[in-house]
Amino acid sequence: MPSMPMIRSLRLSLSVLVLALLVAVGLAACSGEPPDDHPGQPVTKRRAIFKQFAKTLEPMGLVARAREPYKREKFLAQAEELARLAPEPWPYFTPDANYPPSRAKPEVWSQAAEFTKAREQYVAATQTLLAAAKGDDLDAMRRAVNAVQDQCTSCHKQFRRK
Ligand code: HEC
Repeated sequence: MPSMPMIRSLRLSLSVLVLALLVAVGLAACSGEPPDDHPGQPVTKRRAIFKQFAKTLEPMGLVARAREPYKREKFLAQAEELARLAPEPWPYFTPDANYPPSRAKPEVWSQAAEFTKAREQYVAATQTLLAAAKGDDLDAMRRAVNAVQDQCTSCHKQFRRK
């Protein structure tokens, strides 16, 4: 038979454990999203890359709209980064990788050929932008930035929930 003090301390450590669990669950709820416990975390990984897309494209958008001055080396480095990132999210759209908090529409999987087309057009647009950034035709660079943005928007319309 375990002694009374032992049982008491066992109870105490159990309640500490329960409390710690409650705090952890509470914190997860505060972040508003379930933890991504899927093998390889495909949703978390592709979302992180999409955020990089946005972060990289934004300063080029400012240059294209003449809100920031054009600086060749900087613009070229950003175009290189965007082209490097362009093929990266797609391998994370694996067949079983549509779970919360993903905003991907089921059409990503049910219209796979269309999705492949959209992402190929996007990758091509980033290549056109990179080619323009290597030249010295600022208008061509502006057009290429707009074309990339159009690809983001049209794919989101078709394949991303609001
Ligand atoms: C071929 C389709 C496609 C293209 C092109 C595309 N996206 Fe997306 N994007 C998606 C899909 C699908 C999601 C939803 C991913 C998810 O939640 O699982 C998404 C999600 C995002 C998100 C949200 C990430 C998050 O934290 O939830 C951002 C930001 C984003 N895209 C920015 C961009 C930008 C900027 C571009 C262009 C430079 C772009 N995307 C191009 C399909 C695309």
